[in-house]
Amino acid sequence: MNYNIAVVRGDGIGPEVVAETIKVLEKVGQKFGHSFHFTDVPAGGAAIDAVGECLPAETVRIAKSSDAVLLGAVGGPKWDNVPGDQRPERALLGLRKELGLFANLRPAMVFDQLADASPLKPEIISGGLDIVVVRELTGGIYFGEKGHKDGGDMGPAAYDVEQYAKGEVRRIAKVAFDMAMKRSRKVTSVDKSNVLESSRLWRRVVAEVAEDYPGVELDNLYVDNAAMQLVRNPRQFDVIVTSNMFGDILSDEASQITGSIGMLPSASLADGNFGMYEPVHGSAPDIAGTGQANPIATILSGAMMLRYTFGLGEEAKSIEDAVNRFLSDGYRTADLCGGAPEAVTTTQCGDLIAANI
Ligand code: NAI
Ligand code: MG
Repeated sequence: MNYNIAVVRGDGIGPEVVAETIKVLEKVGQKFGHSFHFTDVPAGGAAIDAVGECLPAETVRIAKSSDAVLLGAVGGPKWDNVPGDQRPERALLGLRKELGLFANLRPAMVFDQLADASPLKPEIISGGLDIVVVRELTGGIYFGEKGHKDGGDMGPAAYDVEQYAKGEVRRIAKVAFDMAMKRSRKVTSVDKSNVLESSRLWRRVVAEVAEDYPGVELDNLYVDNAAMQLVRNPRQFDVIVTSNMFGDILSDEASQITGSIGMLPSASLADGNFGMYEPVHGSAPDIAGTGQANPIATILSGAMMLRYTFGLGEEAKSIEDAVNRFLSDGYRTADLCGGAPEAVTTTQCGDLIAANI
């Protein structure tokens, strides 16, 4: 099969980690007989430098006509004086909106070999950890009605409205259940339905969607309890589905369990399996050009692309296995070994993982 991938290499370490990911994807293509076609499109600081705007219309057009988007990271101090609505990071918001990316997937994985990097006790995460937080990305309180009004005795007041329509909950729930079908078949829906009307609707709709997935177990948790359970016993979770704000907070909490930002991939999905895949980290200007960037977060984002947009589960697993093997063989990038002299460079890391495919 042929797959068209739009590539935003971006700024700072973005181009370095994307190059290693393309190297690994090409190896997967050779091994499994697929052809991945990569088209570079500018966005972020590099686009400001090249054409004077952070998200050129041509970039959006090519991204929309591709099967998926692979993105490194955008931004950096070089563009600190660019006005707010043209900052490199605005390209991300623009892409999310233009591409209709309503579901944000953030896996929190602890590789057994890196268990000592986690702030949690070894017995809590031993045997590895593999959670995905599915966060609703285009609705809820971040996009609801907001404003100011008279707060009476208490003075001026401000408000933000949490609102979800059935259709919005239904489509994010379906993403979570579809994903659970490809994993351990368990979904935990997180809400605050003991207090919020919007959460009661959320819980009802998720239960309706669950009826279409008899093979998947559904659990409901209040968000305060979920926050507690994530550090007390994270291994009880497989797929967590939740609203925009709760997901923002819980995905950051979950990512800290893993202890290393250089290992964390992410995906943002639209209807019809289209998705944008990028590492959780930013452009790391402090280490750009030094060969210290860990490309694994981006390489694992590439694996998510294969699994969730292209439906290539076996190929995705070959990448995850190759990363596992790299770690088991004792190799570490600088971020994983406190910069010890034996650290492998970004390029060596990509070469070793590609060789393991
Ligand atoms: P950052 O994630 O770029 O860096 C935070 C720290 O983690 C730095 O010390 C960096 O060296 C380290 N780090 C990050 N990724 C690494 C990797 N792959 N390997 C080894 N070490 C790594 O976050 P920061 O410093 O807050 O932001 C830097 C720039 O990136 C800013 O302009 C920010 O706006 C932008 N940014 C872009 C994002 C994106 O494109 N999705 C997301 C977050 C930040
Ligand atoms: Mg956040």
